[in-house]
Amino acid sequence: LHIIHIAVEMAPIAKVGGLGDVVTSLSRAVQDLNHNVDIILPKYDCLNLSNVKDFHCQKNYFWSGTEIKVWHGKVEGLSVFFLEPQNGFFQVGCVYGRGNDAERFGFFCHAALEFLHQNGFHPDIIHCHDWSSAPVAWLFKDSYTSYGLSKARVVFTIHNLEFGAHFIGRAMQYADKATTVSPTYSREVAGHPAVAPHLHKFHGIINGIDPDIWDPYNDNFIPVPYTSENVVEGKRAAKEALQQKLGLRKVDLPLVGIISRLTHQKGIHLIKHAIWRTLERGGQVVLLGSAPDPRIQNDFVNLANELHSANNDRARLCLSYDEPLSHLIYAGADFILVPSIFEPCGLTQLTAMRYGSIPVVRKTGGLYDTVFDVDNDKDRAQAQGVETNGFSFDGADTGGVDYALNRAISAWYDGRDWFNALCKRVMEQDWSWNRPALDYLELYHAARKAE
Ligand code: ADP
Ligand code: GLC
Repeated sequence: LHIIHIAVEMAPIAKVGGLGDVVTSLSRAVQDLNHNVDIILPKYDCLNLSNVKDFHCQKNYFWSGTEIKVWHGKVEGLSVFFLEPQNGFFQVGCVYGRGNDAERFGFFCHAALEFLHQNGFHPDIIHCHDWSSAPVAWLFKDSYTSYGLSKARVVFTIHNLEFGAHFIGRAMQYADKATTVSPTYSREVAGHPAVAPHLHKFHGIINGIDPDIWDPYNDNFIPVPYTSENVVEGKRAAKEALQQKLGLRKVDLPLVGIISRLTHQKGIHLIKHAIWRTLERGGQVVLLGSAPDPRIQNDFVNLANELHSANNDRARLCLSYDEPLSHLIYAGADFILVPSIFEPCGLTQLTAMRYGSIPVVRKTGGLYDTVFDVDNDKDRAQAQGVETNGFSFDGADTGGVDYALNRAISAWYDGRDWFNALCKRVMEQDWSWNRPALDYLELYHAARKAE
């Protein structure tokens, strides 16, 4: 098959959150199965071009009175076309937050279809994502089906229904097939007005992570390469390097890591509570996160000051976006906490496991589908053919977090052999795209059969 993704994020060159990771990692997995994949992305001024190979301007074309330059390059082995309209839409700022995002991305979606049309592409599947490339679905069906693109089918993936639900509803209507990023989230949103009329073409497929991009045996940002065979030594070295880097006391205490956008979705009050609870239980905490909302950011700046003066050698809040530091935290932490209020899939719990860190999560969306509580989910895990791998809780009050975190920290203190065996076990679980990529291919084939 020939699949073209039209998207506004792509890791590592233009990543805001998990959407960027998924565009890259799903594409790589499908390409590895011998399909042909291209990605079309806006050419933002902020692109990290050191990660683009053979970058060059390929051609230009005109659409809607605007000259559009087309650049091409390879990112993580994937062919990427970058569209640069000469109207200033992508020359300032990075990805979101310009006030006219809907207009800019709407223009980009139309320009991308026009590029495919004018250059004689014949893809089988055009795959668009979230509200930002949702317009592809209806623009395509309204204006492009009678051209060379006629055999193409549109697949639309909802990564997060919180944003742009009215765009999403319209794309759901026009897409041939629609997905969201976990089976549980697909059930959670089934009654939403944007989704409910389209359940016949809607599927929940769990995300994976790319095991080559996230690989503790081959990671420049951690001190000692490790696999499940030397997980204890590898993680000990990473913990010491993390403590050293952040000025934490270099003692072996249970270390809880949090790597998150700081928004309502991620359970802000539960994160704050868990920080204090971990300190009370004698642990260390490292949070890496940034808040798009300045009020929340400010709140965390205040918390950081409070914590750093009271618990200077046991807590660090790093309120920025920092890819290298995220790798060191995944490797150096004992636990990665994800207490989200809702979570369509969540990638941090999967990456945590790849690095032998134990997820502590709220049971929602993809967190429910991927984390199986060591005490409570043995039967559910067995039914899924996996072993238990973490700690989880229900409810959105602090009692829930306490329930999971207390058990996690006690397990660390009380049974190091048991705990080390758990780290080894989670590292050996497969949360890659191996399985989900096949589900996407099946869906692509089914979409081709759709009228
Ligand atoms: P979402 O897309 O809702 O933010 P996901 O769990 O799907 O949540 O994906 C988040 C991605 O962004 C992960 O790859 C995570 O490692 C990364 N990430 C989140 N916050 C930061 C940060 N402050 N610095 C570096 N990486 C981050
Ligand atoms: C969204 C969701 C997150 C998901 C990611 C990738 O940002 O919030 O749960 O993992 O998209 O699909």
